[in-house]
Amino acid sequence: MIVTDGFTGNVALKTGEGTAGLVRDFLRDAFSKTLLSKVAALMAKASLGRFARRIDPRRVNGGVFLGLNGTVVKSHGSADATGISSAIKLAYTLAQSNFTDRLAARVALAPGHAETQRGRAVTRRSAIRGVGHYLPENIVSNAKLAETVDTSDEWIKGRTGIERRHFAAEGQTTSDLAVRAAQAALDDAGLKVDDIDAIVLATSTADLTFPSAATMVQAALGMTKGFAFDLQAVCAGFIYALNMSDALILSGKASRILVIGAETFSRIMDWEDRTTCVLFGDGAGAVVLEAVEGAGTSDDRGILSTDLHSDGQFKDILYVDGGVSTGTSGYLRMQGKEVFRHAIEKLAQTAHTALDRAGLSADDVDWIVPHQANLRIISGTAKKMGVPMERVVVTVQDHGNTSAASIPLALSVAKADGKLKTGDLIVIEAIGGGLAWGSAVLRW
Ligand code: ACO
Repeated sequence: MIVTDGFTGNVALKTGEGTAGLVRDFLRDAFSKTLLSKVAALMAKASLGRFARRIDPRRVNGGVFLGLNGTVVKSHGSADATGISSAIKLAYTLAQSNFTDRLAARVALAPGHAETQRGRAVTRRSAIRGVGHYLPENIVSNAKLAETVDTSDEWIKGRTGIERRHFAAEGQTTSDLAVRAAQAALDDAGLKVDDIDAIVLATSTADLTFPSAATMVQAALGMTKGFAFDLQAVCAGFIYALNMSDALILSGKASRILVIGAETFSRIMDWEDRTTCVLFGDGAGAVVLEAVEGAGTSDDRGILSTDLHSDGQFKDILYVDGGVSTGTSGYLRMQGKEVFRHAIEKLAQTAHTALDRAGLSADDVDWIVPHQANLRIISGTAKKMGVPMERVVVTVQDHGNTSAASIPLALSVAKADGKLKTGDLIVIEAIGGGLAWGSAVLRW
């Protein structure tokens, strides 16, 4: 690609076209001189035809105007039908590939871009436009659970803060829950599925080994374009999915993404193991993340910073003892005390790192929306961060631990409760199997 001013571009274009025309005329002349050259031309007709087409300037007609709010393709003044159709083809290809958005994103990320904007620095951000959730109808209280498991409401509530959880109905799968949450998020955003470029679904309990639950959601929503994939980072799944979707948007590879967390952990519970089976529930939450413009400051709407970590040496403290290549689907196993020990420390640390990156501190935070695993972890982390519990969204009492679904679920419930106001600064943080953990700072 050559970028020039209009005059130089025109001279370069005309010179190129003129040279191509001259070569074509020379060839025609050379092959029409004698009978022998005419015979040679006949024998080489196909090759000469290919060559003539290759240097035919009409086939590359159409120059792109940059710096305008949209894509403009300028065609040659004397273009014939072939030339015009080439220009239309070029315009179509650019429109199909989100050329303007991708270009704007690249330019926004270029070093020194902000300084060269003459008072109007534009930074591409990804912001949450809509949020929604879905919970299966079957609500199981601690007392109900105690009818079949050797436990009590007092023990569960005292140790974890959990009072009830939802369980998926027989035959109801993770993608079923995800579709409902995704549709709710689209409705909240006032968008149709055609407005979406991609689906990223965080889950550890996909319906099938393949295809991904995300492509099942795609099909159920009637979306036939774009791309969809699952992402697995257990309870940190939504943080990872949001982070990856943010990167896709900032790089201009997508402009609107459905980011979903959905789980049916009830299917991987060992109902003989009371130390784990009382902790988890099923559910789904989703957000529509979309590209917006910001000024590049911490006052911008959208994701301001993120922080991700994993450390595989801690596999044994939280894992499922089965999987495709073992031939079983397995059950969740956990050393609760060990997980607890890592959780508060690592969550507070990652949240501080993300706040530092955004140039903010805990005092600026309006809401922490944490992964909902256990009230003691949630309050311990808030305390370590220096944020009072009045500024923490807690839903664990009603949902239990829904793994990757817990944060979008909590966001959706908090919004419905009228807690989240435009401009609020939110920190989301999560830790889970891997260990994998991370956080994000975003302005609502
Ligand atoms: N009901 C009644 N008693 C129980 C139950 C139960 N469901 N489970 C365990 N007990 C008993 C134990 O048998 C033990 O009895 P004992 O003293 O007679 O031996 C007693 O309660 C204490 O057991 P501990 O395992 O020591 O209980 P602890 O105080 O550590 O609490 C818990 C367990 C709640 C799991 C805690 O370790 C914890 O919160 N860990 C964090 C793990 C977590 O939340 N993981 C979620 C997944 S990871 C994530 O999302 C962050």
